[in-house]
Amino acid sequence: MIKINENYLKLQSSYLFIDIARRVQAFQTAHPDKDVIKMGIGDVTQPLPPACIQAFHEGVEEMANAETFRGYGPEQGYAFLREKIAQYDFKARGAEITADEIFVSDGAKCDNGNIQEIFAQDIRIAVPDPVYPVYVDTNVMAGRTGRAKDGRYEGLVYLESTRENRFIPELPSEPVDLIYLCYPNNPTGAVITREQLKVWVDYARENRALILYDAAYESFIRDPGLPRSIYEIEGAREVAVEFRSFSKTAGFTGTRCAYTVVPKICMAYDETGEPHAVHALWNRRHGTKFNGVSYPVQKAAAAVYSEAGRMQTRALIDGYMENATLIRREMEALGFSCAGGENSPYIWVDGRQDSWAFFDFLLNKAGVVCTPGAGFGRCGQGYIRLSAFNSRRNVEQAMTRIRTALAG
Ligand code: MLT
Repeated sequence: MIKINENYLKLQSSYLFIDIARRVQAFQTAHPDKDVIKMGIGDVTQPLPPACIQAFHEGVEEMANAETFRGYGPEQGYAFLREKIAQYDFKARGAEITADEIFVSDGAKCDNGNIQEIFAQDIRIAVPDPVYPVYVDTNVMAGRTGRAKDGRYEGLVYLESTRENRFIPELPSEPVDLIYLCYPNNPTGAVITREQLKVWVDYARENRALILYDAAYESFIRDPGLPRSIYEIEGAREVAVEFRSFSKTAGFTGTRCAYTVVPKICMAYDETGEPHAVHALWNRRHGTKFNGVSYPVQKAAAAVYSEAGRMQTRALIDGYMENATLIRREMEALGFSCAGGENSPYIWVDGRQDSWAFFDFLLNKAGVVCTPGAGFGRCGQGYIRLSAFNSRRNVEQAMTRIRTALAG
């Protein structure tokens, strides 16, 4: 008899965004005449920058000729991309990261989800609440938690992000070994200052803990004083792994390219307390389970760092950020208290009612899809998340519809 991994039975039946898509699909089937504007899942809507498209085409052409054709590439990514990442995303900002500390992959979600398998079963894990569900669900699947009770899994330490702490949690009151942080935050849109981030780095150093720092939205930071990478903080190289993505930065959600940074001096420990390089463990895992991102896609990603690519991605991001400003301003004008949207494409709106009830209201009365905050955890109850990833026209229309629906 084939037996299942019983940990899967602890999970909610479907992943948050799949659940939402199903509800929206049911609504559209029941109301085929109604047009729906999607501001739920953070999925980009604008085409790839021309510089990326050109490089993508060139990569495909190379694959079409025997002289330039490429088979398997390096699992960690081509040097031409890793060197550009190290140069532009880190060295240019004073963060000492070398090309061989970068692992190119097909997504930050996959890397965030996969990395837990290199750590022991009995580590103590801290996750934010509200939280990007991947951090939690993958540890549930791996058997590091008990069952869920009132929306929280036994065995996890929840770091509450609330209006009171301006969505930046306090250090945990009990010891933890693995800490998930995400800034700019998904879903709250909150950002962390250097001083606040240093507190976490110091904690990790003092406790031989590790920080998994999800910086998938760093390119939306507008405030020049804010850190774009955890490696801008002294000592972080010893205790942090960072995840980045081209998905939101350059419109790669359908193209797939991301990377994870694992500094060589970052350590995890065996039962005897002996240190082991996380880099070597992740490299071992990557080489065994991954064959690299396709060559044309890596060519397209490298073009993000060309002069034209940088200007074009900047324009893309600026467009989404103008949407974010508009959404926040409109929702505040309607009397809602909001976070995010200033250095992040997400606006976290206090709906002053049950999250799913507000989701249903917006879908049924305004034809607008949001993400219910409760789907991100207990502290998300009462909130909804609006995504700025859409065309200006759709955002303007969505705001008009919401205003009308609330007035009716
Ligand atoms: C989100 O909407 O939170 C993101 O699109 C999910 C993701 O990037 O996986």
